Amino acid sequence: MSKTAIVYASTHHGNTKKVVDAIAREFEVDLIDATVTTEKDLSEYELIGFASGIYAAQFHQQIKSFAQANLPQNKKIFFIMTSAMNKDFSKSMAESIKGKNAEIVGKFTCPGYNTFGPFKLIGGTAIGRPDENDLKDAVEFYRTLVRVGRQ
Ligand SMILES: Cc1cc2nc3c(=O)[nH]c(=O)nc-3n(C[C@H](O)[C@H](O)[C@H](O)COP(=O)(O)O)c2cc1C
Repeated sequence: MSKTAIVYASTHHGNTKKVVDAIAREFEVDLIDATVTTEKDLSEYELIGFASGIYAAQFHQQIKSFAQANLPQNKKIFFIMTSAMNKDFSKSMAESIKGKNAEIVGKFTCPGYNTFGPFKLIGGTAIGRPDENDLKDAVEFYRTLVRVGRQ
């Protein structure tokens, strides 16, 4: 099986960490916390994931700077996002992977419990997410990704 790293940042409620942990329980992947590690040689990895909560429509700044600093040329990459709106915010990574000739092989988005600003007053949104089904979906997403990648 190909060697995979998932670089993640999960600073609000640990929502994104739950998703990457679920994948790491089922598959051999190396998890790298971009809020702790800023430099890493990723050349040995065939597949590299960037996983983040979404903050003001952006991947976490540390994910963006990690990718810019450490993503080697010609890698297969994928994105995992948790957000209140459960939308694809991966465009916010475009600048950071520019010129790296990366091939985006998959994207996974999932709702994430949110108590930012005024949402705190109403008890938050996407309460209880990611839930067990979200985590199963994330594992299936990854399973499909590696299966397709092997063909
Ligand atoms: C400062 C801040 C800004 C946020 N901005 C957005 C946003 O623009 N769009 C959105 O859908 N969710 C937004 N959210 C909600 C988070 O993306 C969501 O709670 C996510 O699951 C957090 O992931 P984490 O717990 O892994 O950090 C924001 C949360 C915070 C704390």
